[in-house]
Amino acid sequence: MEGVTEGSFCAVMSRRALVRCWITPFIRLTTGVPRLVRLRSRLSVCTDSGLPVIVQVMGTDGGLLAATAARLASISGVVGIDLNCGCPSPIVLRNGSGGRMLQNPKWIRDTLLAIRDAAPTLGVSVKLRTGFEAPEEMRDILPLVAEAKPDFVILHFRTVRERYHEVPEGWRRFDTARALLPRTVLFGSGDLFDAKRCLELSDRHGLDGCAPARGLMRTPALCRDIETLCRGEACLPKVENMDFLREIAEEALLRGRTQTGFVLQLAGTMLGRESEAFHRLSHTRCLEELAAAL
Ligand SMILES: Cc1cc2nc3c(=O)[nH]c(=O)nc-3n(C[C@H](O)[C@H](O)[C@H](O)COP(=O)(O)O)c2cc1C
Repeated sequence: MEGVTEGSFCAVMSRRALVRCWITPFIRLTTGVPRLVRLRSRLSVCTDSGLPVIVQVMGTDGGLLAATAARLASISGVVGIDLNCGCPSPIVLRNGSGGRMLQNPKWIRDTLLAIRDAAPTLGVSVKLRTGFEAPEEMRDILPLVAEAKPDFVILHFRTVRERYHEVPEGWRRFDTARALLPRTVLFGSGDLFDAKRCLELSDRHGLDGCAPARGLMRTPALCRDIETLCRGEACLPKVENMDFLREIAEEALLRGRTQTGFVLQLAGTMLGRESEAFHRLSHTRCLEELAAAL
């Protein structure tokens, strides 16, 4: 998640063993293959964790994406490339990338194949939404994606037009997706906030797994809890919100941050913006004060 699974959040989640691998926020490629030193520095927060890292890339030039994948293959810890074809941000769409690529499924297939060719030691996957305008577009998109034989597909049930609007029974769209991708490892995405529900939905719609996103900001242990449930093991102790937030704030201070922005945003999501605790924190003037208040 751009602006979330970066810096202090990544460091603390990794340290607390709340995740087993990272998919980075997207790296948008426009003009040339970034230098190795730049790629290394950009990815260091993930690669430093020692966990396997899948690097998400986005762009319009398949050759550029493939050449970048080849360079990424030389970075220790990088195990895969994920192609972003789902981002609904207006800027990204204006540039013709992200979710816009759903209107050009042949490009998606060809780019996945080009990435595979250029970086044969890495896994190749793709992040999709169910369509640009309408979920019926899955019938055109998914068979072409399957032709590229990605290692897995993460599918967010909304279309690009639906952005983050409520879609009643959105998960039903996975029945169609599953039928169109019978032999592809398929992970569902969208509105996953609770471990039990993640498993229920994956099972009900015949998926191989699920990929929660915003839920990690509310419940940092969500992935760990899903894994525990899958194994049929007893629940592990809950992550205490205040402890977690304090650790994030301290980590951000160590990284030279001074502004409360991200930590306060996370506190609002974890504690609830109406809560007394959040109200108290929101009056702090700098990160140091916020860390002390936590
Ligand atoms: C702040 C934010 C940043 C995101 N950044 C990315 C990104 O870089 N790459 C990506 O594939 N999806 C990104 N997403 C989309 C999520 O991966 C996910 O598909 C979507 O939020 C729906 O899942 P959720 O309801 O569990 O959050 C982002 C979502 C949010 C809220």
